[in-house]
Amino acid sequence: MRVLKTEILRINPVQPEMDKIEYAAKVLRDNGTVAFPTETVYGLGANALNEQAVHKIFHAKGRPADNPLIIHISDLIELDKLVAGTTETVQKLASAFWPGPLTIIMKKSDIIPKIITAGLDTVAVRFPSHSVARSLIKASGLPIAAPSANSSGKPSPTIAQHVIDDLLGKVDMIIDGGPTEVGLESTVIDTTDEIPVLLRPGGITIEQLRNVLGEVHVDTAVTREIDKSTIPRSPGMKYTHYAPNAQVIIIEGNRQKVIETINQMTEEKRSQGMKVGVMSVDETASLYHAHHVLSVGSEGNPQSIAANLFHTLRKFDELGVDIIYAQSVNEQGIGMAIRNRLNKAAGYNIVRV
Ligand code: TXA
Ligand code: MG
Repeated sequence: MRVLKTEILRINPVQPEMDKIEYAAKVLRDNGTVAFPTETVYGLGANALNEQAVHKIFHAKGRPADNPLIIHISDLIELDKLVAGTTETVQKLASAFWPGPLTIIMKKSDIIPKIITAGLDTVAVRFPSHSVARSLIKASGLPIAAPSANSSGKPSPTIAQHVIDDLLGKVDMIIDGGPTEVGLESTVIDTTDEIPVLLRPGGITIEQLRNVLGEVHVDTAVTREIDKSTIPRSPGMKYTHYAPNAQVIIIEGNRQKVIETINQMTEEKRSQGMKVGVMSVDETASLYHAHHVLSVGSEGNPQSIAANLFHTLRKFDELGVDIIYAQSVNEQGIGMAIRNRLNKAAGYNIVRV
């Protein structure tokens, strides 16, 4: 693969310097690739209307061609030309949650290149709220295709350093706008059926969606492993995702039992010469005996767990652990998204005690 000279540009996330935004927007207009922060995770952006530009995204990430991309906009009026039409459901969702961490699947219009949708007749659109993302998209004057800015299969990046670790030399520019707020990717909802379907849980919770829409189905792939023979509604669902190098095992059940079991398993693996990591919460961190106990956040503040999850998984890799025991998390609210990513990181390797 040809090595690109990746430019790293620091931009103030609160008040983006407009000259820098303009400079980065030019790279997008020239059909280059720019990684930028959003309120969820960092994205790797390119001109959504240019096939060659979009191809660079797939190439840099090593992303399978059958996994479609989300198109990002900076104003609601840009939606019209990307979709075949909007429904009442779409209007309700947009007015409740845009700009913000929600991706809406709609019937696509004819201007969307095939490479974006992986041949589907639907398109995923998101209007992010992060000021750098918004001003960059606006300045480019283009709809911007952007998957998470990680190497395919790795946890999504929540700081610029994660992007640098994965994509340096593979993209034209990386904007450093500090840590992202939500820490997990956007909620994805499909509105092309009579009853909308949640395809990926994220920053906007199922409770919030039902408050606005009434009935919303949850795709089975959100909570369960799908077998290899079923075709998922969201192609991204079938890939082992978010995986650190070490094997992850989730331990769930009665709290006291979970702690005892993790400590027992730690001893066992340690005696076999393995390097063990434990992913705890603040409330239980002091109760584990492994060499590397990393707390993912406070149970009293699930937002903190969402924000730290991917960073913590990457940290275990840096520490070079062979196995990670993860204490299960509460699945209410944002917990559904946290558990979905944790399940995938673990390849659904779950021990119930
Ligand atoms: O928060 C986010 O959504 C981030 C930031 C950068 O905006 N982006 C992101 O993109 O997570 P990506 O490509 O990593 O995940 C997009 C997901 C994939 O699971 C993909 O399969 C699904 O959305 N998707 C895209 N287009 C779709 C479509 N037309 N129908 C069903 N699923 C689709
Ligand atoms: Mg991704």
